[in-house]
Amino acid sequence: MSDHSLKKIGVLTSGGDSPGMNAAIRAVVRTCAYYKTECAGISRGFEGLIHNEVRELGPRSVRHIINRGGTFLKTARSERFRTKEGREDAYQTLIKNDIDGLIIIGGDGSFRGAKAFYEDFGIPFIGIPGTIDNDIFGTDYTIGYDTALNTAMEAIDRIRDSATSHNRVFFIEVMGRDAGFIALGSGIASGAQEILVPERKDSIDDLFKSLEESEQSGKKSSIIVVSEGEEIGNVYELAKATKEKFPKYDIRVSVLGYIQRGGNPSCMDRILASRLGVAAVEAILDGKTDIMVGMRSNKIVHTIIAEAIRKQNEIDIELLRISKILAI
Ligand code: F6P
Repeated sequence: MSDHSLKKIGVLTSGGDSPGMNAAIRAVVRTCAYYKTECAGISRGFEGLIHNEVRELGPRSVRHIINRGGTFLKTARSERFRTKEGREDAYQTLIKNDIDGLIIIGGDGSFRGAKAFYEDFGIPFIGIPGTIDNDIFGTDYTIGYDTALNTAMEAIDRIRDSATSHNRVFFIEVMGRDAGFIALGSGIASGAQEILVPERKDSIDDLFKSLEESEQSGKKSSIIVVSEGEEIGNVYELAKATKEKFPKYDIRVSVLGYIQRGGNPSCMDRILASRLGVAAVEAILDGKTDIMVGMRSNKIVHTIIAEAIRKQNEIDIELLRISKILAI
């Protein structure tokens, strides 16, 4: 670690909350203490930065939070931070509180804000990827994804009990505004008949064909996992079209929604968050800025923030092929 001149590092969570954000904050705060650097927690993301919602944090301020979902700093999506005036107010907060470096835990929208702020005022910052959607380039996994996957899988397992008991077809919507990671992972793990994701061009005829084949092979019930961002239709539209095509099917819809964002973080998410929190503080103290820390093949990697924003984390199409084979 090179000699550093940062006095106080601010940490905030921004955008949608995700399980493991608390573990990341804890790691940031304690690593600052380890390197004898002051740390300040900023509440409600960039909104709190604009409104001077700042408090000092020490190692004991973050006790008993490693196991808790959500973010104890709270989070927000700030419209004002998109404006130069909003960012100017946020800058004044940093001056008032002697904060000369920032760690931003969030998704690509949060990184866009951080980048604009850096371009305006040159305050060094490091991003930590926190979102259940896993749609950030520069890391194999984002903080919260593993927990959300497990939550979705457990929920689908429960729905399967009902599907098999009633011989029903279930359309289950999982989160992922623009990305199919949760659908793909939870669909494979719960043995779905079909997984519909926005990254692949799906067709309703293929879906009907799959349902027919499933019936012919002796299956009495089916689970179709649909990503929130699926383009051929939402779960209600898909269920309606399927009922019109196969009137004898007993069809139900279930939208898993926000239960996927909450809950105690999984072991994987706690470890990931802890490692990325330490890596972020070490990077900023080492003079790095305008980057995101991530994990690839179990190693810490740094990605220029512009690249993390511009590029897409691609789903593994191979998993869709596997799912097809296993649904025979
Ligand atoms: O956290 C990501 C995500 O869960 C998306 O999958 C979803 O579309 C979005 O957040 C909704 O979040 P909000 O209602 O907080 O804007």
